[in-house]
Order: sequence, then structure tokens, then C-alpha cells
Amino acid sequence: MKALILVGGFGTRLRPLTLSVPKPLVDFANKPMILHQIEALKAIGVTEVVLAINYQPEVMLNFLKDFEAKLEIKITCSQETEPLGTAGPLALARDKLIDNSGEPFFVLNSDVISEYPLKEMIEFHKSHGGEASIMVTKVDEPSKYGVVVMEDSTGLVERFVEKPKLFVGNKINAGIYLLSPSVLDRIELKPTSIEKEIFPKIAGEKKLFAMVLPGFWMDIGQPRDYITGLRLYLESLKKKSSPKLASGSHIIGNVLVDESAKIGDGCLIGPDVAIGPGCVVESGVRLSRCTVMRGVRIKKHACISSSIIGWHSTVGQWARVENMTILGEDVHVGDEIYSNGGVVLPHKEIKSSILKPEIVM
Ligand code: GDD
Ligand code: MG
Repeated sequence: MKALILVGGFGTRLRPLTLSVPKPLVDFANKPMILHQIEALKAIGVTEVVLAINYQPEVMLNFLKDFEAKLEIKITCSQETEPLGTAGPLALARDKLIDNSGEPFFVLNSDVISEYPLKEMIEFHKSHGGEASIMVTKVDEPSKYGVVVMEDSTGLVERFVEKPKLFVGNKINAGIYLLSPSVLDRIELKPTSIEKEIFPKIAGEKKLFAMVLPGFWMDIGQPRDYITGLRLYLESLKKKSSPKLASGSHIIGNVLVDESAKIGDGCLIGPDVAIGPGCVVESGVRLSRCTVMRGVRIKKHACISSSIIGWHSTVGQWARVENMTILGEDVHVGDEIYSNGGVVLPHKEIKSSILKPEIVM
């Protein structure tokens, strides 16, 4: 079975992290976002993943080469010369996606995180006999997503409305599809939106079916949602009694600490924290609701909450970093500095406090 992951887009909403790597390679819960998806696909027997990409394919492929071998899965790129939207890339990768088997293939948005009940999705697809299956989930604020109006008993989609201005429902497209090869006959090789042009048509012919995603879901393409997504992800690890979660008297709630990270004495960590490989957290540090990426050093008695600390950065002693502060790669925050929502570009040194949310170039 094959799968395509939509990897394009510049990830502007996740800057400054995406100034260092393409969005799918930004770490989430201690590994690149895209690995969560590739591992889930591998687990249900997908043998080849096509990355639909419109810039920096070398960066992606170089990075994923190791995982190709480790996971024993074939990873290839399909590169656009102009952005083809969310459907055009399927036409471009047509030859890679279909073979003689007539099997359906998966298509995934690259910036969502969830449980991946892909086996159930295959069963669902077989059972309804339509052309396309999509996973949907309920959200409080549907207007920034694709909204689906469906018949609950059968899953038949009556309407698909991308980013509706008026309320049509609260079940939204989760960005996980299983498509029969015939869907490819509907897509021309030109910039096309699957949400605006293809799904509404298939729905009109009563061949689009939706399955409600059990468990959590989040589009983590924006900092606030990324931080919420980590909370949901860790909560789901907890429910599965995952041995990956840290324990001890210095841990509160759900916390992930890479085994190569060092934590000093007298720290208090959690809830909802991920500490990546090679990090050094010195003594007396307080961390909550934050992500500390690979190679970061947090000096004594610093306090970080609701923030993301990019790769190889340092936070000085007695520093206080909070309120959606996002430090890009290799940022150095001085001792006793306060950051209230600073968004700091890579390779900067912060010598004076950032008192209100702002971008530091
Ligand atoms: N290859 C390629 N080329 N990929 C693209 C392009 C392109 O031109 N444009 C966007 N993508 C990829 C993005 O990288 C992302 O993985 C996916 O397509 C969706 O694009 P986003 O820009 O993240 O869209 P969105 O978040 O506003 O909305 C989409 O996702 C929602 C769920 O998170 C839609 O699919 C909505 O219907 C859905 O509810
Ligand atoms: Mg998105």
C-alpha cells in the first residue's frame, strides 16, 4: 500500500522554527512531525511514502534517508516546480501512487497530529464502496478548517465546505484521506485545491464518506496549537500507560524526557513538557507547558512556561521565559532576562528583556 504526504507550503505560521527546517521536520514530542506519520503508515503495512514537496527536497530526503533504512520503508519525493495546492500534487505523483492492484492510497496533511486509526479507515473504505474516505473530528472553532456535513449513521458526506464564513457544522476535515485510484482521474495537473474543487464534487455524487476520528487531533502548524497539541499527545500517551512518560518526585503531570537529556537537582518539571535529546537542564529549573528541543541548555533557576525553545539555544540563569515565547534555533537568552511572548529569529543573543509579545529580528 502507498501513501502521499502533502509537505509543501512554507510553514510561515510556525516561524522562526521553519526558518531552520521545513515544517514537517520541526520536532514535536521529541521527533520530527513527519516521523509520527511515517511510523503510523509503516505500522499498518504501507511500503512506500511519497513526499509531495515544493521546496528544499534535498533537506527532507537527506534527513529521512536514515529513517528509510531504520523503518524499512521507501521514501521518495515528488517535486513541484510551482505550488500545485492540495490536489495538484496527486496528479503529479500519479505514476507513483497507482499500480495494478487497484488498491486505495492514503493522503495526509503534514501538520496534523492525532491517533492514526488507519486500519479502521481501510475497513471503513471497503465497507462503504465510495471513492474517497476522509477522517473528521469535532472542533470548537470550525471556521479555520474544512467543514463536513454528513449523515451520521452511514458517514455519507452531504457537503464539504472549506473555511466557511457562516456556521455549517462542527465536524471538520482532519487532513487524513484514503482515496481510490479513480479519484486521480478527477484531478488535472495544475494548481488545484482538493478541499475546494475535488471533495465538493465527489460529495455531490454521493461518493465521499467520512469517519469520525476517535481520540485527539490537532493541526500543529501554529505555536499556540502546537503547545495544545503536545498536551493532547502526552495525555494520549498517558491513557495508553506509555512507558515513555517520565516519573519521579520532580515531575508533575505528563512529561517526556529524552534518555540522553540531563536534569539537575531540585528541578520541577511539568505538566506537558517535552525535553529533547542532549538537553541539559541545570539545577532548580522550573518548566511547564513547553517544548525544549534537541541540544538546548537551560541554566540554573530559569523558569519557562507556555513556550518553545528551538534547537541548541540557551536560556540564562534566573531568566523567565513565558507566554508563547518562541526561540528559533541557536538563540541565547542572557541571565535574568524576561521574555513575555518574544518570537526570536535564529542565531540571536537576547541581552535585554522583551516586555510584550513581539518579533525580535
Ligand atoms: N505539495 C504541496 N504543494 N503541499 C501543499 C501545498 C502545495 O502547493 N499547499 C499546501 N500544502 C500542504 C501543507 O504543507 C499541509 O500539509 C497541507 O497541504 C494542508 O495545507 P495547510 O496550509 O496546512 O492548510 P490548512 O491547515 O489551512 O487547511 C487544511 O487542513 C485542515 C486540517 O488541519 C485543509 O485540508 C482543511 O480542510 C483541514 O480542515
Ligand atoms: Mg494546516
